[in-house]
Amino acid sequence: MRRALYPGSFDPITKGHVDIVRRALDVVDELVIAIAVNIRKTPTFSPEDRVQMIRECFPGEARITVATFQGLLVDYAREQKIRTVVRGLRAVSDFEFEFQMASMNRRLTDEVDFIFLMTSEEHFFVSSSLVREVAINGGDVSDFVPEPVERRLRARFAS
Ligand code: PNS
Repeated sequence: MRRALYPGSFDPITKGHVDIVRRALDVVDELVIAIAVNIRKTPTFSPEDRVQMIRECFPGEARITVATFQGLLVDYAREQKIRTVVRGLRAVSDFEFEFQMASMNRRLTDEVDFIFLMTSEEHFFVSSSLVREVAINGGDVSDFVPEPVERRLRARFAS
């Protein structure tokens, strides 16, 4: 049974993330979507809201677990006895940051390996921060986020 961790801020989850989840489920049996809770950052959505939104994006998908974690990713992976971490790559610009992060994690432990999956072309430019920016300014984000997220963004930034 191959289990993998898909960590991220998911503030909020986008269609790009959903695409990576689908691709990951083609190569692993179970996926833990792990929301990193950073106490030094003020997120748009609380960890609880983010968990709820992600669950609503994958109704009835028994191979997905949604969780939150604080602290180091490698410590959480060890605690969960998971050795594979999935990350999505959009454009070349993601590579540098991802390579740096994976290299640091490798120095912290050799028990975890990273696999990188390419987002589909239509999601290359989609990021949570750009989605927030569009939503805050009243734009239509339905192409970029799943319906449960769109609904919450509309409610959050209604005025
Ligand atoms: O969605 P993001 O913001 O690109 O995800 C980044 C994330 C949450 C995967 C990364 O910041 C992380 O792993 N945070 C947990 C703390 C940690 O282990 N930091 C060291 C990474 S080198």
